[in-house]
Amino acid sequence: MLSRLKKRMRYLYTRYVRNELPSISWYHVHPTALLYNRDNIQLDPSCLVCEYVIVRAPAAVLKVGMHSQLGPFSVFFTGDNGITIGNDVMISPHCVFAAGNHEHRRIDIPMMQAGSVSKGPIVIEDDVWIGANCTITDNVRIGKGAVVAANSVVNKNVEPYDIVGGVPASKISSRLNNT
Ligand SMILES: CC(C)(COP(=O)(O)OP(=O)(O)OC[C@H]1O[C@@H](n2cnc3c(N)ncnc32)[C@H](O)[C@@H]1OP(=O)(O)O)[C@@H](O)C(=O)NCCC(=O)NCCS
Repeated sequence: MLSRLKKRMRYLYTRYVRNELPSISWYHVHPTALLYNRDNIQLDPSCLVCEYVIVRAPAAVLKVGMHSQLGPFSVFFTGDNGITIGNDVMISPHCVFAAGNHEHRRIDIPMMQAGSVSKGPIVIEDDVWIGANCTITDNVRIGKGAVVAANSVVNKNVEPYDIVGGVPASKISSRLNNT
């Protein structure tokens, strides 16, 4: 049984390396993803963790819901309050989720030694699309069905179905206007 499974995996991997697979979704967690502190990472079996994703979760949990996708090269730092990603969420390549900050108020010691702070968790509700190269800071909730435009920095809550963009991100429009 185990050797059949191994053979199948080797076959699929070889086809993947040769670019012969029509879809990327043969895997759940791509072999190049680096998931540190695995005990703090809760992935629904139907979610997709793409190539070169990095998760560091030493002190708080990353939770990913059904059918959600963590795009290639995206990085997740769970800080002290954690990151929750709902169902059917699409996270494009090269996004950073920083649920904590370096303590930068003290100037008597290097920031590297000053520890970390977090104002609150990052929560991404269901059916959100986050464009490429976005950064999401701590204490941010992105409401159901929202869209974050490419290259945005989201440092405040986003209302459900809003489309936001820019640095810092502000409202561009609402998906509700199109219905
Ligand atoms: C947000 C997005 C979906 C909007 O697309 P759209 O509905 O076609 O909207 P438009 O291009 O007509 O832009 C609407 C307004 O938003 C602004 N806008 C679009 N993208 C923006 C961005 N990344 N940052 C800031 N403003 C942006 C436009 O300038 C325009 O403003 P205006 O009305 O004042 O001229 C699209 O711009 C985007 O960022 N897509 C993400 C693509 C991506 O990252 N893909 C990764 C692979 S899935």
